[in-house]
Amino acid sequence: KEFIYLDEIDSTNTYVKQNQQHLENATVVYTERQTQGRGRLLRKWVDIEKGIKMSILLKLILFDLEKIVPLTLFTGLIINRVLRKYGVNSFIKWSNDIYLNGKKVCGILSELSGEVEGLGSIIIGIGINVNAESVPEDIKDIATTLKTETSQDFDRTRLIIDILSEFERELPNFDNYGFSYFRDEYKSFCLNFGKEILINGERMLCRDIGENGELVCEKDGEIIEISSGEVLMRF
Ligand code: BTN
Repeated sequence: KEFIYLDEIDSTNTYVKQNQQHLENATVVYTERQTQGRGRLLRKWVDIEKGIKMSILLKLILFDLEKIVPLTLFTGLIINRVLRKYGVNSFIKWSNDIYLNGKKVCGILSELSGEVEGLGSIIIGIGINVNAESVPEDIKDIATTLKTETSQDFDRTRLIIDILSEFERELPNFDNYGFSYFRDEYKSFCLNFGKEILINGERMLCRDIGENGELVCEKDGEIIEISSGEVLMRF
């Protein structure tokens, strides 16, 4: 597999999107600095030094919109699992943010791209705040770094290798059995399960995480399944 290291780039997701014809399946693009990092819901991803910013290209995946949500949840679960192996007390906020002590340390942006005759590729962008002493003032209330919370320095190379190998090891299980294979583990670390949340502007009770990773919520006695959106826990 190919690993591309860039000192600086606008965004690793954008780079992969623009160059994917020349990139082989499972290429990983990593950068030390992003000048225009992108987040979910058209937000920007603030560049924080000594972190991990990388994108994984999965090519020729049957163009299947239904798969991208569970695949992203699967990726979040893998990162959470690896962080826990390092002794980090991390949790998952639906759909795929990793939280530590109530603040975000990792976000994932998955994008579909290059649909040709029903075949497309998925770009999974991963941003983890690792060894920076702090985050910028304006996001201090919502974001943090592994270093800030644990007072520990992490070997980023090892962390990347561990995440990518765990991802690769479990991908066949995801392919064969889908998200449901990982559902129990996801639920046990999901911060929203059983809690009252605000999702897409509506206040609901999160009853379950479905077979494909969707949020199963209850509102006024009615069950509503949600497959995308932003959960707010403090409101
Ligand atoms: C989010 O939580 O909103 C998702 C953040 C994803 C950030 C990563 S960093 C590497 C990759 N390149 C980007 O521009 N974004 C993703």
